[in-house]
Amino acid sequence: MHLTYLCVLIQCLLLSPVGSARNPKSPAFAVLVDNSLEPAVVQSSPSYLLLREAHTQESAAAACNTLGESLASVKDVPFFEPLLSMHLRALDGEISYPMWLAGNGETCTAYSLPNNHTFSVECTRRIRALCTNTAEYQTGLDPPSTSRHIFVKTSQGLIKGFRDRLTARFQGIPYAKPPIGERRLKNPERLHSFPGRKKGSAYDATEFKALCPVRFPIESPTSTRNMTPNATPDLPNPNYPISEDCLYLNIYTPILPENESPDLLPVVVWIHGGSNYFGGSSLPFYFGMNLATRRPLVVVSINYRLGALGFLSDLSKASDIGSNQAMRDQLMALDWVREHIKSFGGDPERVTIFGESSGGSAVMSLIQTNPEKGLFSQAIVQSGGTWSGWQRPHVQADLTRMFLDLAGCNDLDCVKNNRTMGEILEYQGLLFSKAQEVFPRGEVNFIEPFRPFIDHDLITEDWTAALEAGRYRKVPTLVTYTRDEFGLILKTNETLKDKPIDYSTAVEFLATFLLGEERTRQVLDTPELGFNRSLIHMSDVTDPFIQLTTDLGYRCSSEIYAGFLDRHNRDVWEVSWDIGLPQFIGGMICGNGTKRACHAAELPILFGSANYANISSSALASVNYYQQARNTIDLYSNFVHDGEVWINATYYLRRNGNAVRNVLHWDDTPASTRGGVRWEICQKMDEMNLYDRLYYPYLPLGDRANTRDGYISLQYPMVAGPFD
Ligand SMILES: *[C@@H]1O[C@H](CO)[C@@H](O)[C@H](O)[C@H]1NC(C)=O
Ligand SMILES: *[C@@H]1O[C@H](CO)[C@@H](O)[C@H](O)[C@H]1NC(C)=O
Ligand SMILES: *[C@@H]1O[C@H](CO)[C@@H](O)[C@H](O)[C@H]1NC(C)=O
Ligand SMILES: *[C@@H]1O[C@H](CO)[C@@H](O)[C@H](O)[C@H]1NC(C)=O
Ligand SMILES: *[C@@H]1O[C@H](CO)[C@@H](O)[C@H](O)[C@H]1NC(C)=O
Ligand SMILES: *[C@@H]1O[C@H](CO)[C@@H](O)[C@H](O)[C@H]1NC(C)=O
Ligand SMILES: *[C@@H]1O[C@H](CO)[C@@H](O)[C@H](O)[C@H]1NC(C)=O
Repeated sequence: MHLTYLCVLIQCLLLSPVGSARNPKSPAFAVLVDNSLEPAVVQSSPSYLLLREAHTQESAAAACNTLGESLASVKDVPFFEPLLSMHLRALDGEISYPMWLAGNGETCTAYSLPNNHTFSVECTRRIRALCTNTAEYQTGLDPPSTSRHIFVKTSQGLIKGFRDRLTARFQGIPYAKPPIGERRLKNPERLHSFPGRKKGSAYDATEFKALCPVRFPIESPTSTRNMTPNATPDLPNPNYPISEDCLYLNIYTPILPENESPDLLPVVVWIHGGSNYFGGSSLPFYFGMNLATRRPLVVVSINYRLGALGFLSDLSKASDIGSNQAMRDQLMALDWVREHIKSFGGDPERVTIFGESSGGSAVMSLIQTNPEKGLFSQAIVQSGGTWSGWQRPHVQADLTRMFLDLAGCNDLDCVKNNRTMGEILEYQGLLFSKAQEVFPRGEVNFIEPFRPFIDHDLITEDWTAALEAGRYRKVPTLVTYTRDEFGLILKTNETLKDKPIDYSTAVEFLATFLLGEERTRQVLDTPELGFNRSLIHMSDVTDPFIQLTTDLGYRCSSEIYAGFLDRHNRDVWEVSWDIGLPQFIGGMICGNGTKRACHAAELPILFGSANYANISSSALASVNYYQQARNTIDLYSNFVHDGEVWINATYYLRRNGNAVRNVLHWDDTPASTRGGVRWEICQKMDEMNLYDRLYYPYLPLGDRANTRDGYISLQYPMVAGPFD
């Protein structure tokens, strides 16, 4: 190398501002990979990076080098040619341009896809290029150990992420000011630039941030204690760090775009479940690498405030305490996506929101509260548990008062200024157990004691009213539920777990935990509901019991929600998730040996994420898991790209109103059937006022929550009071 050149280079490094020279924006690329989801196959099959910008041969080689790679070589042609062709099909694009490969000494070599050959090209011509892709493939919980850092420029500053074999990842990006100190309990505030950076240096988004505060063990009727990280999709283990500083999101993208790129990918934004008081975006079942890389998508997953910190509200509006903070966090995250996702290859005009369980009801609230702003263009509501509408204002006010009482505070400013996070979580636990004594049946939903409430500001009316009047966002929408939602109770209740349920146990459960005695009697006296006195002689009533509780708790409310939606919006599909899980995956959710499609059963398949849960690949392959996950990811990706529900050239029918009710049964031989699923039962339950007033008492787990003097367990039966 010439001495002068070297000096210029050194001088250049010395003079440029620290950071920006070291960390320039990474070259734009697209990952070329055939993601069959099977770790051993993906790990050992070839993968390349397509550089999306035009370079001279020299600068192309340097760009590959920046990414920790080198130019692909002529002998790679048989390996990258099919990947390029696939990429082209996936993007409906054209790849007629030549691409640099590594040269052989004197000449510079390029490859052309249309005629599948290599040829020599003037080295100074500016064309695209192919680099190797040697980034590590992640199989388990831990991210790759080798650091393949990448840098993206946003209007909030430079941000540092990393590459794995499938995607570019950015973990823990702040989307709002931390809701701590003065901002605790306030509505979220916009963040203008990434915090805590020296001028010119990159914001570090290589590690997940803490979960929003949740208390361990998780105190819920639907969980057991001592969950391991992978035990269920939405329950973390106690080792996950928690912090009030938790308004972060994660991005998994198979491309980094060039400036002003016209080729952006559609985006999906995941809103996790967890009854609005546990869960988090960074749990292993939600890792987005697989979902992002069959038909390419940008996957975003978001945190939002949970429990008391996400919902306590001063309805007098006297102070600067917010309301529905959790829902506003979600809106702010969507706002951030709208503004910045372009920098990560996502198209802000094509954003699909999806969420499961309380995340599903969050999607429902966004459909209703964001009718005009257009922060999303499609929606997927999974097991949205909509049985009792949004929280009534007087219930919210009472919950807040009870919380203040438990906290020994006169107002929320005291909670805000003079209570620790740990104390708040403790009062929250006490509140959940106390609420069951205080509220008449049906007024507090005990699976989601805190949930979107009518604050006459963000949420002005119940979803039934909004949907009936057409005041909601009418975009292509999927409404899904699992075939045996309530089977999860088989896992979480010791009495019911892993053994046949007899008639009297089932009846006791219904009376105590779901319906109360009187309405349980009505159910038994209404034979067509399928759980009736004829079962008394059966030794095992598990199946009819699961069916009834599923209808009550999830399926009928989903059917009815879909029915409301498609009065004003023809682009509604209803999907019954019928894929039962084998014991070694589903046992975590559904109990032993059941092959049931319980609540949350779709998640490890939809994210192709069983891989990350320490389940052996051969076990997964033996139960057709990979095929099911490929089909499911493809179905979702097609919807996200095209706004239609299709796979392998088969298009499934829209729901098409309550008179038609097409339902797609999603299993190994998917088919759309007319007439819905047990619709008559839903109608009957509606007449009997069953599922809109379900009684979900908080079930104490024996310690902590219920041990304080004065908080004795529920006295049953309780008198139902009227709704407002
Ligand atoms: C493209 O060329 C490579 C190497 O010459 C060859 O192995 C491969 O089969 C060709 N692909 C097609 C589709 O012709
Ligand atoms: C906070 O509360 C404690 C006891 O509840 C009290 O002693 C203390 O003075 C309070 N501090 C402030 C700043 O209000
Ligand atoms: C499990 O269900 C049975 C039957 O209803 C009930 O008696 C028991 O209290 C439940 N267990 C727990 C921990 O809630
Ligand atoms: C009573 O329930 C059983 C079990 O679900 C069902 O097979 C039967 O048809 C029901 N009886 C009537 C009269 O519907
Ligand atoms: C599941 O059930 C089978 C028999 O039905 C039993 O052998 C096995 O130990 C059970 N596994 C668990 C985890 O309960
Ligand atoms: C993963 O599974 C293996 C074998 O099943 C077991 O030995 C190991 O402890 C598990 N690792 C984790 C982190 O659970
Ligand atoms: C779609 O086609 C693929 C490849 O032929 C096949 O493996 C898969 O099972 C099909 N999926 C469905 C739902 O038909």
